[in-house]
Order: sequence, then structure tokens, then C-alpha cells
Amino acid sequence: MTTELPTFTSHLECSMTGERYPADEIHNLSAAGKPLLVRYDLEGVKAALTKDMLAARLEGGFWRYRELLPVRRTENVVSLGEVLTPLIPAPVVARELNCAVPIIKDEGRLPTGSFKARGLALAVSMAKEFGITRMAMPTNGNAGSAMAAYASRVGIETWIFCPDDTPEVNVREIALQGGHTYLANGLINDCGRVVGEGKEAMGWFDCSTLKEPYRIEGKKTMGLELAEQLGWTLPDVILYPTGGGTGLIGMWKAFDELEKIGFIGPERPRMVAVQATGCAPIVKAWEDGADHAELWPDAHTYAAGIRVPVAIGDFLVLRAVRASNGFAIAVDDDEIADALADMARLEGVLLCPEGAATFAAFRNSLADGRISRDETVVLFNCATGLKYPLPPAGRKLDIRQAVDYGSL
Ligand SMILES: Cc1ncc(COP(=O)(O)O)c(C=O)c1O
Repeated sequence: MTTELPTFTSHLECSMTGERYPADEIHNLSAAGKPLLVRYDLEGVKAALTKDMLAARLEGGFWRYRELLPVRRTENVVSLGEVLTPLIPAPVVARELNCAVPIIKDEGRLPTGSFKARGLALAVSMAKEFGITRMAMPTNGNAGSAMAAYASRVGIETWIFCPDDTPEVNVREIALQGGHTYLANGLINDCGRVVGEGKEAMGWFDCSTLKEPYRIEGKKTMGLELAEQLGWTLPDVILYPTGGGTGLIGMWKAFDELEKIGFIGPERPRMVAVQATGCAPIVKAWEDGADHAELWPDAHTYAAGIRVPVAIGDFLVLRAVRASNGFAIAVDDDEIADALADMARLEGVLLCPEGAATFAAFRNSLADGRISRDETVVLFNCATGLKYPLPPAGRKLDIRQAVDYGSL
């Protein structure tokens, strides 16, 4: 990534009112208190970028889509060795379920072991571009570890607030990677309040998801990458584990931009937002026909990343799900645990609980006909399963005695 490429950001736009904001200035939310979306001169991108040019770029993971990303100067790109995440077919599952072979997009291969690397690489690179020196965020774990890693790399100080039952690996990882790490006795929205109320006094830039305009641009690359990997086609259905919803909104934006630059046609996948029955505000809003979701009381699920009781981008998730003719579905923790164990045993792929939720939702949707058996389906596994507590295993073997091999 040494070459300087042309950049095409034209402005930012309020996702609710369409009000325009200048690029190249520090922003959080719009005046209406809604997320800002980055807009590009897509005619310019269309003239500057071809599919062949992309195919010839061998390095840099998602940085290959630089023309559709907001970082202006290459010197500000903060990288930890991003890779294109693989598409892993699950043929044994297909045989068991008598359906077309589902594909797992395994985001656990990214730096810090999750797709949060995409969003935070962009947020930190933009923070570097703007000269920001102190960032803070609430996190269920993965976003915090990605922010700490990328920010520490360029000397940006970070304050990170997690619910006190966040998976331990994440918390330790954040701290080791240089984040000032706090365990709060509340949920992610409570941690978000701590950031919001402290930011002025502490001089923090608030990097909460969708309150910062560039994480979504990073998450958007999941959609760009998926389309390129499928030969500039899209699957029939995408199942996405939905917390704040940034990835789903980002992919939807990616498909729109790809169509405008002539890389894909108007076809879209059905976007399926997967949540847990213990925290399903988007599912409830979708079922109620509402534009916004209500705060989910007493939110609980062991799939920590999708335990988000209220999301500022709720209306954008709901819009994308509806526009795509998709749906929102909740699965319970037992179904998630069973799906995780089955995928590991059948296919040798260790999903994270959030990824396992998409597999559980897929099985339930095949059973009730919401997904048909011949549809091409992509399941997003957003983190490596190794970041989560695993069930105990292993039988004791006394090797001071003769081993009875026949009994093993
Ligand atoms: C592993 C995992 N899956 C899914 C999500 C939800 O992502 P999003 O905020 O894009 O809905 C998270 C967020 O923390 C996560 O860590």
C-alpha cells in the first residue's frame, strides 16, 4: 500500500434528513441526532476503477477498495495485515438439511479475530487523518479490542467500557493492546452513556458504532468483498447477526454503490437480521411493522456481540431488511449452542456464538419455509470461536498404567 490513489469522498449526509455535511471535518451525529453516511462521487469512481484493476491488487485485504473508502492519504492507512476473509462451503450441512450448500464468510481471520477490524481500521485511520489523539467507546468486546489494537499502533489513547460479563479474552486483549479498560455494571447502552457524558471533560472522540461515520465504511467492505468473491454476483440470502446493525447497513450501502459504479445489477440478496430471543428489539420492530425499535428490557444472551438493547441505526437496519424483502428472526441460546456444536462437528468450522445464531436461524427458516432449499445462502461468522468460553472437554487418561487402546 505505497501508491497514492485518487479519493472520491464528496460529502457526508444525514441518514434521516439527507442534510449535507462537508467531508474532511470531524463529525459525530447529524444535527437531527442520526448517523451520518459518507457519500462519494460515484461517477468518478466508475471512471477510475475497473474490475480488472481490483483483480490485479493482490495485497492489503479490504484496502483494495480504496476508491470506495474515505481515507485521503495513504500515510494515514493504519493496517495490521488485513486479509480477504474466506468463503467456506458447508457441504455436509447441505446433505443433512437437504438444501443448497450454504457458505460461511469467516471473519474470524481478520486482525484481532473479528470483523470489527474492518470498521475500526477505518475509524482509526480517519482519526489519524484528523489528528484525533483520544478515543472512547462502549463495547461488547470485539470492537474494543480492534480499536485498542489499531489506535495503539499509531499512538492514539483509548478508553474502553465493557459490560462486566464481557468474554474475558476480549477484556484482557483490550487491556494488553493498550486500552484503558473498564468493566461497568450495566449493558452496552449504559457504557455508551458513560462515554457520552464524559467525552467533553475527557477530550474523547466518541467512537460508538454509527455515532462515528467511518466504521460503517469499513463494515461495508464485507459487501464489496463478498460480491467480488462471488464473481460480482450476490447470494439469494444473507444472514447477519445483528447487534448495532452496522454490518447489515454497511453491506446494503455497498451493494448500492456497486450498482452505481456498474459492477453489479439491481438484484439484491434478502437481508436477514438474526438476533437472540433474549435481546430482539429489531425482530420485534420488524414484526410490529414499526420504523424504530424500542429499548429491549432485561437483555440477555450468551452471544455477547448481539446483546444490544437499543441501536441508533435501528431504522436503517429495518429499512434494508424491508427493502430487500428479507426478515428478522430470533433464536434462543440453546439453539445457538446446538448450532455451534453441530457446525464444529460436521464441518470443522468453530463459529462464534453470534455466527452460530445465523446457522440456527438458517435451520429454523428452512424448516418453516422462509428460506427455500434451493436458495444460495451466506452465513456471517463475525469472529473466531476461539475468543469465547468453550464447553469443558477431554477424558482423563492415566498414562502411568498400560493404556487400554481398545477402550479409547
Ligand atoms: C461477533 C459479533 N457478531 C456480531 C456483532 C454485531 O455486529 P453489528 O454491530 O454490525 O450488528 C458483534 C458486535 O459486537 C460481534 O462482536
